[in-house]
Amino acid sequence: MSAPLPVAASHLVGNYGRNPIAFVRGEGVRLYDAQGKAYLDAFAGVAVSALGHAHPKLVAAIARQAAAVAHVSNHYQIPEQEALAGRLVAAAGIKGTGPLQKVLFVNTGTEANEAAYKTVRLWGNVAHGGRKTRIIAFTGGFHGRTMASLSLTANPKYREPFAPLLPVEFLPFGDFAAASAAFAERGDEIAGVFIEPIQGEGGVIPAPPGYLAHLRALCDRHASLLVLDEVQTGVGRCGANFAFHLPGVVPDILVLAKGLGGGVPIGAIVTTEALSALIKPGLHGTTFGGNPLACAAGLAVTEEIFQPTMLARIDARGEQLRRGLARVFGSAAIEVRGRGLLCGVQLAVEPSTKLIPAAREHGLIVGPSGNSTLRLAPPLIISIAEVDELLERLEAAWNSVKG
Ligand SMILES: Cc1ncc(COP(=O)(O)O)c(C=O)c1O
Repeated sequence: MSAPLPVAASHLVGNYGRNPIAFVRGEGVRLYDAQGKAYLDAFAGVAVSALGHAHPKLVAAIARQAAAVAHVSNHYQIPEQEALAGRLVAAAGIKGTGPLQKVLFVNTGTEANEAAYKTVRLWGNVAHGGRKTRIIAFTGGFHGRTMASLSLTANPKYREPFAPLLPVEFLPFGDFAAASAAFAERGDEIAGVFIEPIQGEGGVIPAPPGYLAHLRALCDRHASLLVLDEVQTGVGRCGANFAFHLPGVVPDILVLAKGLGGGVPIGAIVTTEALSALIKPGLHGTTFGGNPLACAAGLAVTEEIFQPTMLARIDARGEQLRRGLARVFGSAAIEVRGRGLLCGVQLAVEPSTKLIPAAREHGLIVGPSGNSTLRLAPPLIISIAEVDELLERLEAAWNSVKG
């Protein structure tokens, strides 16, 4: 296996800042580069590789499905899609039941948010005769890079080069009074509110206690839809099937992707019968969304993750990790945040400059979130000993750069 090409010789568009390492193999929480160096992966390809790398059950499911049929198009019945939809609906219920009964599959997080945005539009246009036109999102939020999802994403750096975008109003994340004020003024024109239960790209920032319930109550009072973007927090990442289970605030639309396929691209919205009825044949679709291969991967992942013992384990590993992070960074940590295995350490220095490269030198893959937060989102199968090892490697890296 040859070493990565120098940037100037690459034929790839330069839209990513790529590190000069090519991972050629993985096993469990380990990745191996082209030179055979091993890394402990505490980033999971941006919170994707839920079962780690080369998990035997995921490998077998993908191989079995690829050998049977990988793709057939949504012009035909897809039993694997039905099975995964049923699994997601069951997992979304609280004590086995709830209003989230219908699933639409896509390929990515941004497409799932596009589908949610279009559903919110249908709610305003079709169910409310065009009277609901306002869409709300939050500062610090991230929902993807395609045009509707980008319109929902607050960061001016991502938005401004692509203006004009679709109309979205931004409220300060976590500000109860600002949300009440937005609804007090023409609240009946609000079609939907998009929010992440924990802002994953914006610094691993959880919504304050009671905030999602506050938004739910405002939405209920004004017949507005609550959309929870769980692209990063869902499918076990936070130690529950979905993060909305933790406060028990049920959305009208649940948005999923990332961990759902364990590395095979798949996204989904999970929604109510009433909203699903607005999406008539031909109104929305994708060639690949929910194909047999992607759904077989989703079935393998969810079979492992949607288990009480697994969720309890994720929760416990997350607590172990956050306790260790507080110890490693001591007073240098402005805050250690997160839930389950989505963890952030806010630092006074930008982690991308020195700490993340130093971690790589010490055989550890971690990433940033926002400008000043170190993000850890390891595979959900990480063991107690591997969390300890992660912390040892991170401590060595931190000691080498903290000055
Ligand atoms: C909360 C959230 N929504 C949406 C997205 C976009 O997902 P994708 O990159 O699969 O389009 C991301 C990606 O980081 C995300 O964290």
